Amino acid sequence: MTPAPDMPLADSDQANSTSADRAARFSSLRAGLQVPVVCAPMFLVTGPEMVVAACRAGIVGALPAANARPIEVLDDWMRSIAEQLQAAKDAGQNVAPWAFNLMTHSTNTRLNDELALVARYRPPVVITALGSPKPAIEVVHAYGGLVIGDVVNIKLAKKAAAAGVDGLACISSGAGGHTGSLSPFAFVSAIRSFYDGPIVLGGGISDGFGVAGAIAAGADLVYMGTRFIACEESRAADAYKRMLVECDIDDLIVSASITGTPASWLKPSLAAAGLDPENLPVPGARNYDANRPITARRWVDTWSAGQGVGMVNRIAPMAEIVETLKQDFTKAQDRFRRLHPTGSGDAPRNLPQSPSVADRSHA
Ligand SMILES: Cc1cc2nc3c(=O)[nH]c(=O)nc-3n(C[C@H](O)[C@H](O)[C@H](O)COP(=O)(O)O)c2cc1C
Repeated sequence: MTPAPDMPLADSDQANSTSADRAARFSSLRAGLQVPVVCAPMFLVTGPEMVVAACRAGIVGALPAANARPIEVLDDWMRSIAEQLQAAKDAGQNVAPWAFNLMTHSTNTRLNDELALVARYRPPVVITALGSPKPAIEVVHAYGGLVIGDVVNIKLAKKAAAAGVDGLACISSGAGGHTGSLSPFAFVSAIRSFYDGPIVLGGGISDGFGVAGAIAAGADLVYMGTRFIACEESRAADAYKRMLVECDIDDLIVSASITGTPASWLKPSLAAAGLDPENLPVPGARNYDANRPITARRWVDTWSAGQGVGMVNRIAPMAEIVETLKQDFTKAQDRFRRLHPTGSGDAPRNLPQSPSVADRSHA
């Protein structure tokens, strides 16, 4: 791996931060966003342009480590993101923090090199996926960063919380990519019964109305991927972007056939790749090794989307999508206030209150 020169790239030089420091850091991160959304990391879709565009538009942009191969390319991308965001800040612009997404699955033989780059470029948030968050925690906490563990069920959520993550990304049914199977509303309620830390909720949430619903239900941020695949700054092929515009929720199939893990696929892309969406092959072994070149057909010719695909109506710049999310988020709050004005007889009363769930805020 090419060593990068030392650079003051982190938001903080806080060595060995405490959990209270990090909780405060999460609250201020959230408060600084235009709308409480993370542009979720997406394999072969997200590059540095998309991350920077998201952060400049006022939402968290997340880079998947696996998209940059070999490791020298990842070094360049991380440096470029950190430098561009620092330059924007120096010019007086408000930019949201960026996030880095690590596959901690045992088949990723590049993990230690990726962690060395994390220590060097200090992304404010690190999101672990498809494995334990443990390998990232010491490295990230040493510079005051936040570790969010991506989970798909209660067992994994409890394990991640016990490992010391600073938040949980709860991937629910309807998500694009490797999807979950739990309803987002049921999932967030179940997590809130034992966890009062930050929750990032994902799965089929693709407009500002859904964001408001997720926040009302107990989430702190929404993890949104599909809505951004067709943004101008994404690396998705033009044909993929056009397919997203044309498809709706009925054009999806969830199958483990392609990667070995259940993922949500656009049926027309499977058909175009010579597969029968109604008769897919038996799943093969899982392998997330970022040291492999990207030659396999999966993800390259077979395209994924979540159940919010119907919200993608045209190819648009990131800033425009974020502005629409923000406006719809405000409309949703107005609607709620109109239907349930504080103190009116319309407000639900005498509901059973569980102390741990009553407030639903992480702090
Ligand atoms: C094309 C595509 C690729 C994805 N690749 C990754 C990935 O590399 N790492 C990861 O943690 N999640 C990945 N995801 C999942 C997203 O990060 C996120 O969980 C999901 O998009 C949220 O659901 P939504 O698409 O319905 O908004 C991917 C999703 C899509 C649609």
